[in-house]
Amino acid sequence: MPPEKKKLSDLKIGIIGAGHLGLTMAQVFIKSFLPVPNLFISFKGSLHTKKLIEGLGLSDQVVPIEELCMAADIAFIFIRPQSFIDFKITSIGANILFVSGMAGVPLTSLEKTFGRNVCRIMTSGPDTVRQNKAMAAIYPFNEVINRILTESGFTPMILNEEREMHYFTVGVCLPAAFVLAKKLGIDVESGLEDLKPGYAIIRQLYLWAKDVVPVFNSGGEADDYVRKMATPGGITEAILINLQKSRDLLQAVEAGVERSITISARFE
Ligand SMILES: NC(=O)c1ccc[n+]([C@@H]2O[C@H](COP(=O)([O-])OP(=O)(O)OC[C@H]3O[C@@H](n4cnc5c(N)ncnc54)[C@H](OP(=O)(O)O)[C@@H]3O)[C@@H](O)[C@H]2O)c1
Repeated sequence: MPPEKKKLSDLKIGIIGAGHLGLTMAQVFIKSFLPVPNLFISFKGSLHTKKLIEGLGLSDQVVPIEELCMAADIAFIFIRPQSFIDFKITSIGANILFVSGMAGVPLTSLEKTFGRNVCRIMTSGPDTVRQNKAMAAIYPFNEVINRILTESGFTPMILNEEREMHYFTVGVCLPAAFVLAKKLGIDVESGLEDLKPGYAIIRQLYLWAKDVVPVFNSGGEADDYVRKMATPGGITEAILINLQKSRDLLQAVEAGVERSITISARFE
């Protein structure tokens, strides 16, 4: 039966990539609607991740990726974009919907690996997911994914075109930029006044981003928060590196948009 015809609690959900975001999504799905036996997890095999999964009591849910792709109604992909370059799957179950959470990897490229039953999501960082303050964009819009994300506490944003994913992605990176800006003593109040009109989505996420930055008990806690949001080689990292150098939020945001476009171009 296609996933959109099932109750959320009957869905079988696969998580490919069990890092900062993948394991957070697995936990929030379980908390919100998903019985543990309906969850399948695949990762590359690092000992660190194995231990984290053990700590969450989810070791029995780990399966080889081929098994996940045959068993799941919906498979979420949370690996790094650079890991997708040589990513392959050999078997795909009937009706499975693939949902890529990878920043910057375009639909054209996803379709080559997963077929046409695929959509993209972009979510805010793991901490906002745990705080129940997370934002998500879905493109193209998909009703069952919208239901899953809404049930899991996300506020979905409707995008009109795929290009807007670049701006949304940069917008949800802003909390990490604000934490670094505070550490460096950079003013973020007036930082985005001169944004290009095309960046309206980033402006919309600006107030949300200011609201979700937690209060930290120590510098180490703040650094850890930023680290978990900054996937190496990704868009948050590009924003942070630029901010550190330029000390200008607007320039850092533009570097983030450029990074997202560059990642996409690599896959076209
Ligand atoms: N972190 C964020 O705040 C955030 C926000 C929005 C979107 N994203 C997107 O989410 C994705 C994951 O980011 P992350 O920060 O969670 O990365 P991460 O912590 O580095 O996790 C990546 C995971 O992918 C696994 N992996 C790598 N190659 C694989 C393969 N071929 N098959 C199965 N699993 C594989 C890794 O396995 P091992 O553990 O064994 O190495 C690891 O568990 C990225 O594409 C990023 O753009 C992240």
